[in-house]
Amino acid sequence: MDINLKGKRALITGASSGLGEVIAKEFAACGAKIGLNYHSHQDAAEKIASDIRNNGSEVIILQSDVSDGKSVEVMVNDFVKKWGGIDILVNNAGIDGTRALVWESDISEWERVVKINLFGPFYCAREVLKHMVNQKSGVILNVTSVHENIPWAGYSSYTVAKAGLSMLTKTMAQEVGSLGIRIISLAPGAIKTPINKNVWENPETFADLIEKIPLGRLGEREEVAKTATFLVSDSASYITGSTLFVDGAMIDYSNFTHGG
Ligand code: BGC
Repeated sequence: MDINLKGKRALITGASSGLGEVIAKEFAACGAKIGLNYHSHQDAAEKIASDIRNNGSEVIILQSDVSDGKSVEVMVNDFVKKWGGIDILVNNAGIDGTRALVWESDISEWERVVKINLFGPFYCAREVLKHMVNQKSGVILNVTSVHENIPWAGYSSYTVAKAGLSMLTKTMAQEVGSLGIRIISLAPGAIKTPINKNVWENPETFADLIEKIPLGRLGEREEVAKTATFLVSDSASYITGSTLFVDGAMIDYSNFTHGG
């Protein structure tokens, strides 16, 4: 199957590291024009943009804090001014936050995680849909997590944000389905990125994590990026309103692999 994003204009949030970086590179390799959003790591964003340009693709860098609605409005306007419209939004920017049980949580830290992981995608989708609705075309891919379904003690702000984002996908898919706009969630499991480096670098926590994955290994960023590329492409034209898990079956209650 030939996955082609030729001429598609794609905005990827949180693209200066982790999954966003590889998604941006993969989309560019398939012919897309890229809006590479970053929050604070300008040097990393510039390096990724220059890699993309050196491979013959077009890219603009857009600094923005996705948890700030005004800042998102400016970013989307700049993107549309540059490319004349928008075909793809990947709501990728996200953080795990600091581990804290509910009664020990710091309120402003809890709010920050929800603002970045849930309000951010809402702000971005809101601005981008204004254009997609006029165009009557487009795809929004929300990067959720296995934790849209699996509870995770100590990360209540993260789990509620991802569960909320999953419901935002379904609700938006209803709102724009008749216009031919697709909204999808991609839910990664444990992928080897900076977000969980502290876990996979430590042999003890690494072993504990691997036990939770029937496939017996962490995912690679490219495995998520290739799935993302398929989902936003016309090859996935009948997929909308649902979640695709890219998780080595983590979602499958792997503790039941042995006994019950
Ligand atoms: C989190 C990772 C975690 C994985 C599996 C992801 O959503 O960002 O830190 O390793 O879920 O628990």
